[in-house]
Amino acid sequence: MSVPLPPPPPPAAASATAPAAVVPPAAHAAARLSARGLVKTFGTTTALAGVDVDLAAGESLAVMGPSGSGKSTLLHCLAGILPPDAGTIALEGREIGRLSDRERTLLRRERYGFVFQFGQLLPELPAEENVALASMLLGTPRARALDLARQWLAALGLAGMERRRPGELSGGQAQRVAVARALITGPDVVFADEPTGALDQTTGADVMRVLTETTRAAGASLVLVTHDENVASWCSRRIEVRDGRVVGA
Ligand SMILES: Nc1ncnc2c1ncn2[C@@H]1O[C@H](COP(=O)(O)OP(=O)(O)O)[C@@H](O)[C@H]1O
Ligand SMILES: [Mg+2]
Repeated sequence: MSVPLPPPPPPAAASATAPAAVVPPAAHAAARLSARGLVKTFGTTTALAGVDVDLAAGESLAVMGPSGSGKSTLLHCLAGILPPDAGTIALEGREIGRLSDRERTLLRRERYGFVFQFGQLLPELPAEENVALASMLLGTPRARALDLARQWLAALGLAGMERRRPGELSGGQAQRVAVARALITGPDVVFADEPTGALDQTTGADVMRVLTETTRAAGASLVLVTHDENVASWCSRRIEVRDGRVVGA
């Protein structure tokens, strides 16, 4: 996009996370995010049966596969939403697979951004406040966060819509707000689970263009779950998940 992106956010306040564990360099060298041997079961269902995945800085990775194959579970484990039963996950060489709930919450706020199928914006808040909130949770003063949020909304083509609530936006516009919210904190990785699943094909392509271009320009990597070939084609690389395993690279 031709619109310059807003400046990066101020550095996050020192978090209360434990000192970084040292990860063997051979396993995780050079990857921004790297998982080895991820296993996750729900009762008798094995959602992940030993997954290895690496994500480079600036890379966009499409995670493909049929419904029920384990795509969302993989995204949730990589994103610190679900702790895996076994395996390791390293972000910039720091092991994050065994963090406490509180540490994972901080990790998500400080290092990650999220765009889901239904933007999961807060319906009672205007667009600018939905976006600013992510920055305020990291300690940015309200006025500064709102200013940054307006810059992000403008960069995403939503100038003039700052005060609209999610119900007053189209589906594509709401997903642009979700992209702004994901990026305002300057994340290392953006996670998107079927972000165009509720949109028509043209609007979905528009959101994918904005999501991939803006994420790349902001220096973040992208992990995108989709079963849609057209959506995956916006990413720089893809993997295929079947029955909880990566079958193609
Ligand atoms: N919270 C859960 N409780 C029980 N089973 C789950 C849960 N989440 C996922 N599963 C099961 O794990 C498997 C993988 O699910 P999921 O990762 O959502 O697949 P996908 O995103 O590829 O459709 C499925 O069999 C699903 O039913
Ligand atoms: Mg899913």
